[in-house]
Amino acid sequence: MKITICIGSSCHLKGSRQIVEELQFLVAENNLVDKVELAGTFCMGNCMNGVSVKIGEEPFSVKPETTKSFFEDEVLSRL
Ligand code: FES
Repeated sequence: MKITICIGSSCHLKGSRQIVEELQFLVAENNLVDKVELAGTFCMGNCMNGVSVKIGEEPFSVKPETTKSFFEDEVLSRL
């Protein structure tokens, strides 16, 4: 599974770096390093909401404080 996190300037200001770090931690903690690939991308043209994150081609808006529930609800349920 590939998760792409926007590191464009607007998403950066909303905490994309924190989200990347949290996702790296959660992936490692759940022993999913060989199943989940994390990638960064520049602006996805969806700066209005939270930080733009995609699972495959499916777009989500994530905030630092919702990263854990995003991981549990959307990532773990798809594996
Ligand atoms: S900066 Fe992230 S979608 Fe635009």
